[in-house]
Amino acid sequence: MMNMEAKPVSDSKVTITELMIPSFANFSGKVHGGTLLSLMDKVAYVCAAKHSGAYCVTVSVDGVEFREPVEVGELVSLAASINYVGNSSMIVGIRVTSLKPKTGEEKHTNSCYFTMVAKNADGSLMKVPRLILENPQDVRRFYDAMLLKSKRFEINEMLNKDVKDVGLDVMIRAVQENRCSINF
Ligand SMILES: CC(C)(COP(=O)(O)OP(=O)(O)OC[C@H]1O[C@@H](n2cnc3c(N)ncnc32)[C@H](O)[C@@H]1OP(=O)(O)O)[C@@H](O)C(=O)NCCC(=O)NCCS
Repeated sequence: MMNMEAKPVSDSKVTITELMIPSFANFSGKVHGGTLLSLMDKVAYVCAAKHSGAYCVTVSVDGVEFREPVEVGELVSLAASINYVGNSSMIVGIRVTSLKPKTGEEKHTNSCYFTMVAKNADGSLMKVPRLILENPQDVRRFYDAMLLKSKRFEINEMLNKDVKDVGLDVMIRAVQENRCSINF
């Protein structure tokens, strides 16, 4: 029996397009990474809110890289879709492209993944609708997002590991093989 709650990926797909104006740029005319991050967060919010029908918040961000600089005068498009749903969480995949309107030249500047959770009005976590995968690409994206989710928890565990797990002598030996000097 079909779950009446379920929603197809196509229902929440969304694209935001914005012209890069001088106030978004640094002194060399390149757009600030933070400006692009803010646009990514907005499109992730809209996509997650459309799927869940609820207020959503950002939990974590993966895969943000700026492979190509974005310049003033370019038209940036951020295409977002839900790649994965858990209980309250959704992984939103975002493809960022930048177009030079005068020449039509387009570059793929980055793809990234925002984990969002849906919240009820009282702030508690809300269960989100199941996701209907409509084609093999949707299946691949869901599968990849499952792997991302498990890797993210491994990385978090590593980052939050208590310092006492590794002795200072071990750390000193490891860091000394890199470009730093110890001054104590
Ligand atoms: C994220 C948050 C909801 C987790 O709360 P929690 O009580 O630890 O809840 P849970 O452990 O049950 O996690 C809830 C969901 O978030 C996911 N999650 C939690 N931490 C995560 C992380 N670091 N990365 C990715 N997903 C995460 C869990 O997998 C879970 O997903 P599921 O419901 O689909 O199974 C809570 O920390 C929160 O509300 N943070 C603030 C988010 C916010 O306000 N963002 C705006 C920034 S200003």
